[in-house]
Amino acid sequence: MEPKSFKDSRVIMTHLVLPQDANAAGNLHGGVILKHIDTTGGVVAKRHSRMNVVTVSIDRMVFKQPAYIGELLTFQASLNHVGRSSMEIGVRVDAENLETGEVRHINSAYLTYVGLGKDGKAAPVPPLLLDSEVARRRHKEAELRRKLRQKERLLEVGEASVSSKKKVRDKKSFLR
Ligand SMILES: CC(C)(COP(=O)(O)OP(=O)(O)OC[C@H]1O[C@@H](n2cnc3c(N)ncnc32)[C@H](O)[C@@H]1OP(=O)(O)O)[C@@H](O)C(=O)NCCC(=O)NCCS
Repeated sequence: MEPKSFKDSRVIMTHLVLPQDANAAGNLHGGVILKHIDTTGGVVAKRHSRMNVVTVSIDRMVFKQPAYIGELLTFQASLNHVGRSSMEIGVRVDAENLETGEVRHINSAYLTYVGLGKDGKAAPVPPLLLDSEVARRRHKEAELRRKLRQKERLLEVGEASVSSKKKVRDKKSFLR
């Protein structure tokens, strides 16, 4: 498969915050932001791989600032890292007050998607071309997050479900 640049798949989507997106005080619901983040990231993953993709993980999200009814949200998403079948995508969310023009960075998230083959199992996706300083820096940072996620997965599995002594040994050396 030919490597592809992050520039070929990056996406910008917008959403106008309406009353159904907010609570009684006019604050945008966190779940609405999350849905749009996942949709935007999913478009990037599909554009890069041209395959059916699923979200396998969303890193911890921090809601830095509130957003309100009448504001315009902008979701900017691009690919940071490609493994064999997985793709890490970063999404940045800004809220624009349409009356004043003020733009606030309200959220950022990293999501991992997996490309699926015709059998519904994880399948190889095109490699990522590291063709710029930005691409190389993002890739390096994403490598660190990928290692952290792998550690978290091992901790979630727990030793009770690790069947063989070898797996326990591997796990301990991995966590060092
Ligand atoms: C995604 C899924 C197919 C992966 O299956 P799996 O048996 O874990 O497959 P693998 O072990 O081969 O892992 C596939 C890739 O996912 C990555 N992965 C698996 N679990 C992960 C996690 N918790 N966080 C980050 N990456 C993960 C692996 O590192 C691997 O990446 P690589 O191929 O680049 O090395 C399976 O977990 C699934 O179907 N999950 C449900 C997805 C879903 O319904 N999402 C919501 C709706 S879109």
